[in-house]
Amino acid sequence: MATIIDGKAFAANLRSEIARKVAILKQQHDLVPGLAVVLVGEDPASQVYVRSKGKQTVEAGMNSYEHRLDAGTSQAELLGLIDRLNADPEVHGILVQLPLPGHIDEEAVINSISVDKDVDGFHLSNVGKLSIGADGIVPCTPLGSLMMLKDHLGDLSGKKAIIVGRSNIVGKPMAALLLKESCTVTIAHSRTQDLPGECREADILVAAVGRPEMIKGDWVKPGATVIDVGINRIDNGEGGTRLVGDVEFDSAAAVAGAITPVPGGVGPMTIACLLYNTLQQACRINDVEVPE
Ligand code: GUN
Repeated sequence: MATIIDGKAFAANLRSEIARKVAILKQQHDLVPGLAVVLVGEDPASQVYVRSKGKQTVEAGMNSYEHRLDAGTSQAELLGLIDRLNADPEVHGILVQLPLPGHIDEEAVINSISVDKDVDGFHLSNVGKLSIGADGIVPCTPLGSLMMLKDHLGDLSGKKAIIVGRSNIVGKPMAALLLKESCTVTIAHSRTQDLPGECREADILVAAVGRPEMIKGDWVKPGATVIDVGINRIDNGEGGTRLVGDVEFDSAAAVAGAITPVPGGVGPMTIACLLYNTLQQACRINDVEVPE
């Protein structure tokens, strides 16, 4: 039976470390990191995320600025708000919650965020920096996944990693991060031939496809470390719903060396890493060292 990697505890620990550093920053430099979150429209899942981000930002001792705009907001109005946030010295991180309503060009909006305040790491300059292995802002979900992998395995050098899913938010940045750690990296996707066979080769399996329980236990190499990024809500057969990952947990846990559960695995790490990125950027923008 696999070791269960407790993302909830890992994230709580990371958040308390961040809160400790924020307190030092306040005391020694009179600097309070500030995170602005912009939500356009009323998507219920996005509202839940935004509320939770605001709450955890304040709990870490940072300032949280929430901007809720109605679904009919024009692209020009949104770009105007981002310009003001880019110029605001109290704001060190800007996150525009995705997806945006269809009439707004997401690429144009993301790339209008100042490169140093792009705490999602989605700006083309940060994407480019990651792809050449330079220091930039790393997207939160892959960063949280990497932190857990390194905590569990130590040195990743030479390990075979497969990432199932090629999204810009998770799959591609995860591949770049693992390559930087000197893994041998495969990115698999819907056209991959013999996906189970490819997965069985991997010491590290990162599932980020968004398909409930697609990856089965007999696809997992015995002893492998499995990171399940999927969060899928499915029918529980009793008139309600439940959350499952992209990996069939019970069968995979019987074979893997270690595995992240859903919920309580990668999920809580995403917001913790958002706070981490905001702290890093507040220090960078103000030219002060991140407290030890
Ligand atoms: N929507 C779902 N996940 C994310 C995320 O990580 N960042 C942003 N900006 N929007 C999201």
